Amino acid sequence: MGKSLLVLGSQWGDEGKGKITNFLSEKADIVIRYQGGNNAGHTIVFGGHKYALRLIPSGVFNENVKCVLANGMVINPRAFKEEVEEIRKAGFPAKNIYISDRAHVLFDHHIELDRLNEESLGSKKIGTTKRGIGPAYADKISRVGMRMCDFISNEFPELYKNLLTIKNKQIIDMGGNPIDYDKTVKEYLELADYIRPMVIDTVAMIGKARKEGKNILFEGAQGALLDVDFGSYPYVTSSNVTSGGTVDGTGIGCHGIDDILGIVKAYETRVGEGAFPTEQLNEVGDLIRERGHEYGTVTHRPRRTGFLDLPALKYSIQINSISYICLTLVDVLTGFDKVPVCTHYEYQGQLIDTLPASDRVLRECKPVYAYLDGWTEDISNIKTYDALPENVRKYVEFIEKETGTPVVMVSTGPDKNQTIIREEIF
Ligand code: GDP
Ligand code: IMO
Ligand code: MG
Repeated sequence: MGKSLLVLGSQWGDEGKGKITNFLSEKADIVIRYQGGNNAGHTIVFGGHKYALRLIPSGVFNENVKCVLANGMVINPRAFKEEVEEIRKAGFPAKNIYISDRAHVLFDHHIELDRLNEESLGSKKIGTTKRGIGPAYADKISRVGMRMCDFISNEFPELYKNLLTIKNKQIIDMGGNPIDYDKTVKEYLELADYIRPMVIDTVAMIGKARKEGKNILFEGAQGALLDVDFGSYPYVTSSNVTSGGTVDGTGIGCHGIDDILGIVKAYETRVGEGAFPTEQLNEVGDLIRERGHEYGTVTHRPRRTGFLDLPALKYSIQINSISYICLTLVDVLTGFDKVPVCTHYEYQGQLIDTLPASDRVLRECKPVYAYLDGWTEDISNIKTYDALPENVRKYVEFIEKETGTPVVMVSTGPDKNQTIIREEIF
């Protein structure tokens, strides 16, 4: 019997999903992205090289792994081609890539509308990656989006013309730059030719793989606190990032995911706007940013930084049914005398440990901290859990106890080799 494991971001993204997916993909037959698009930026380091993936699953560096961009994704065909070519230039064949015929296509008009939406929001902007993600998902839900099965069909020029007529009206109304049909259709037809051989019925493929006992990895993008239903709305992305999104984003079915590995950064980061109770707008926050190289992979924006937020993590564990934790970037916390961890929020004189629905309320929540003893030893080359300094283990075990969830992996650096396995789960 094969195993299926979901690698899921449990905070605001950038927890190290790419690193861990690549690490685990050695044992996988298939790695599947199920939501989002090139708003994601997943960094992978091995063999002295660093790779940044946006759309392609992080199994692509293993020749035998099939990489699937499943139906829940929104895919910019130009960005897709560029990324595949980049990977090939780096010396990897990137041959086993499959795109769902049900996935939605992200066009230039989505990017223009993303820009216009953000501009019109002014100081209330979301702080999106400006990759057109929100408008692409809005079209999908409004039933005017274009799916891969139509993009690669002979109907495409006609369908695109009708679609662009409507979208250009919106763009002009908002004072933006309409998209030129003749210029773009030519490029998109070439991109459709490039993509056509990779477009298949991934629902059937994934179902068959599961029946045949293949090892399947699902690779989440973003983080649960950016989920459109469960995140600090409206400062969220436009897809279901949570484990539920895996079911709808692939067609695997509710019983198709055996275990869920929550990737948890040892502290918090957030890019874009929205409440962030433990944010450190001070030199400590700056130190974490510099040590952790906390700058966006996609937009290069400095990431906001803060201490670990247990109410948010416990919420994430609940809404995702997280079965195991992989704690990442623990090395970044080396050198602190005390490491604060938020255990509760204080809201209007009451202690709470749940996440309010309203971003406005969350902004008013004041973190209440437990202060754990820090460590000074360099942990970046330690290979076993038992060899970690006692205070690192105490930090890990505190998180375990508070969340009731076993920490099975500890990551101590960006390189694939800097990964400590406490319990094999895949
Ligand atoms: P993702 O979006 O979840 O895949 O994460 P990103 O790649 O956007 O951001 C994580 C950053 O931390 C990347 O630069 C990784 O190379 C790096 N990284 C991952 N794990 C570790 C770790 O344990 N320690 C350190 N120092 N860096 C890490
Ligand atoms: P990975 O997969 C961190 C954030 C944006 C913004 C909000 C909405 O690398 O963890 P969008 O462009 O999706 O409409 O932006 O979501 N965001 C991410 N933050 N990591 C990501 O992906 C993100 N993808 C989107 O910064 O706040
Ligand atoms: Mg990232």
